[in-house]
Amino acid sequence: HRHLLGIEPLHPTEITTLLDLADTYVDLNKSPHKRREVLSGLTQINMFFENSTRTQASFELAGKRLGADVMNMAMQASSIKKGETLIDTALTLNAMHPDLLVVRHPHSGAVNLLAEKVNCAVLNAGDGKHEHPTQALLDALTIRRAKGRLHRLTIAICGDIAHSRVARSNLILLGKMENRVRLVGPPTLMPSKIEEFGVEVYDDMKAGLEDADVVMMLRLQRERMDGGFIPSEREYYHRYGLDADKLRLAKDDAIVMHPGPMNRGVEIDGTIADDINRSVIQEQVEMGVAVRMAAMDLLARNLRAETEDEGVIV
Ligand code: CP
Repeated sequence: HRHLLGIEPLHPTEITTLLDLADTYVDLNKSPHKRREVLSGLTQINMFFENSTRTQASFELAGKRLGADVMNMAMQASSIKKGETLIDTALTLNAMHPDLLVVRHPHSGAVNLLAEKVNCAVLNAGDGKHEHPTQALLDALTIRRAKGRLHRLTIAICGDIAHSRVARSNLILLGKMENRVRLVGPPTLMPSKIEEFGVEVYDDMKAGLEDADVVMMLRLQRERMDGGFIPSEREYYHRYGLDADKLRLAKDDAIVMHPGPMNRGVEIDGTIADDINRSVIQEQVEMGVAVRMAAMDLLARNLRAETEDEGVIV
């Protein structure tokens, strides 16, 4: 592939290849000599039109550890504020010959559109309610390392499914790898026709968590609720917040995940989030760097292969 825009176009063997490579980067990241030169000579530009802590920091670290020249565009201070469009901004940066463009945008489909206009590799760092592919890949790596496999697991994704690109990318990936995916949340926060994806839908947390191997909690995405249904935090926590009482229904060795940012006391009890016997939330962050290193490594190999096929002398 030239880009990483979503999980949808990926074949299960490609997912496995990427995760296997990411595993090697997990080991590298633990060593005191973290640097490899696989992106040496390449330029990576990070364009985040929406806030980020984990994704932006890990893409930056991933690029630097692999030897790329990394530039973070401060989009809040850019000429977008003067009325320049997303495409004009992208074409402007494209003219500076980046090799890797990492883009987060609040509108679903914006990153795909941008990828059609530039001639470098584009990595989707989250677009609206559409996809967040590197999040699903880092979640998959976390699950595979914790459970020893990435198939025939029962995985409950809980909370605000309707507004979540994390849920969407995860359910596509976990379905491709032949897991049983349950979506758990209030009907008002469930996308319509979601059963078409081959998932089971629950509005009762305890029923949805029963015998689950993995419990993945999601934040209420208030910024995407468009003034529609916004549940009260107290009521939401009571019915859908992950506490010890509800978690008891899952398997004894079930792991608890959260992509972050987390709202303690809203979708998850803080003591569960901090319980190192159950929670793999910090491992998810750790896997995020390794997965982004693997994704950029593979795209750079494809870029180089393309250049060689065209007979361009570099
Ligand atoms: N999980 C995730 O995408 O976090 P950030 O918004 O902080 O990047």
